[in-house]
Amino acid sequence: MIENKFLPKAYTHAISGSSVGYESPSNIALIKYWGKYGNQLPKNPSISFTLNTCKTQTRVSFQKLEKSKKGSFDFEIYLDGEPKPGFEPKIEQFFHRIEDYVPFISEYKFKIATSNSFPHSSGIASSASGMSALALCLMEMEKQLQPNMSVDHFNEKASFLARLGSGSACRSLTGPLVVWGEHEEFRGSSNLYGVKFSHELHPVFEDYQDTILMVDKGEKQVSSTVGHNLMNNHPFAPARFDQAYMHMTDIVPILKSGDLDAFMHLVEREALTLHAMMMTSSPYFILMKPNTLQVIEKIWNFRRETGAPVSFTLDAGANVHVLYPAAESEKVLDFIKNELVKYCQNGQYICDNVGNGARKL
Ligand code: DP6
Repeated sequence: MIENKFLPKAYTHAISGSSVGYESPSNIALIKYWGKYGNQLPKNPSISFTLNTCKTQTRVSFQKLEKSKKGSFDFEIYLDGEPKPGFEPKIEQFFHRIEDYVPFISEYKFKIATSNSFPHSSGIASSASGMSALALCLMEMEKQLQPNMSVDHFNEKASFLARLGSGSACRSLTGPLVVWGEHEEFRGSSNLYGVKFSHELHPVFEDYQDTILMVDKGEKQVSSTVGHNLMNNHPFAPARFDQAYMHMTDIVPILKSGDLDAFMHLVEREALTLHAMMMTSSPYFILMKPNTLQVIEKIWNFRRETGAPVSFTLDAGANVHVLYPAAESEKVLDFIKNELVKYCQNGQYICDNVGNGARKL
C-alpha cells in the first residue's frame, strides 16, 4: 500500500524535550469535498482557495516520558491560554489515527497551545487550520528525530497527517490553490494528501478576495462527519461524485483564462449542490438561514445591476463567503456595508483573501 511511504524510517536522533510552532490558515473549497470512505478518503476530488487572515497558531511543547505505552497519549490542550478539555476527544482520535505514521507521539507528554485569528464562536470551522497547524508541528518534531528528511516528504506527510485529522485540513498547507483527490487532469494528485494547483493560474485569482459574512455564528447544526455520512446511500450521490469530477476538469481552463462568468457559475453551482445534497438526504437538513437566501439574492441583484463579478460560496453552514477580484474591493465593500451587513449576526464579517499557506513560527 502506498501509505507505507509515510511509515517512518528508524529515527537517527533523540530529543528529550523542546517546543515547535506553526501557523496555518483555513481554506474555502470551490469544488466541494462532501462524502468520504475508509480512513478519511474523499469520494470525489476537490479544490480550494487557501485563505490568509483566518488562521490558527499552534505551539506544541513536549517532554519525553519515562514510561510510555503504544496507544496511550499524554497531552493537554489550551485555547487562548485556557485549558480546553472539550477538544481532547478530537485530538485523542487524531493521535490514534496517526500513531502508526508518527509512533513517537506515545513517548512524549505534550502541551498543545492554540489560538485562532477569528472569534471562536463565529461559525468558522477551525478544524482545517487547527489540524494542519498541529500536523505541521508533529512533522517538525519528526524532522528533529530524522533530520535528513526531504522537504517534499515533509510537506506531503504533513498534509497526509492533517487529512487524518480533518479531510479539508490537507488543503491548508500551501497556496494559493490546492487540489485533493485523484484526478487525471492533475498530475501527482492523491486521495492521501493535497497538492498545490500546478496549472497556469490567471493573476486575477492570486489575490482573490473572500469576505465571510457571519449570518449565523452558532455551533454547526450537523457535524461534518455526520454530513459526509449522509452521502452513503444517498440516491443522488453517484451523480454528485461524477459531477464534482467533471467540475475539476472544467475549472482548469477557467483558472487559466480568468473567465469570471464561468468561474462564478461553477462555484455557485457547487455551493448550491452541496446544500441540495443535504436537503435531500435522510435525515434531511436545511443549513441555510433566511438571511443566507437574502444575501444570495442581493448578490445576484448587484451583479445584474452593476456587472461587477461578485459571487458567493457556502460551507456546510449558513455563513456566506463573498468572492470577488481585488480590483473590485472598494465597490464590493461599499455594497457589503450598505446592503449585506444587516443580515450578519451583530453586523460581523471578516475580510480575507487568497494566501500562500502555513508558516513556521
Ligand atoms: C463542506 O473537512 O470538515 O467544507 O473530514 O469530517 O473533518 P472531515 O470533514 P471536513 O469537511 C469539509 C466539507 C466542506 C467542503 C470542503 O471543504 O471541501
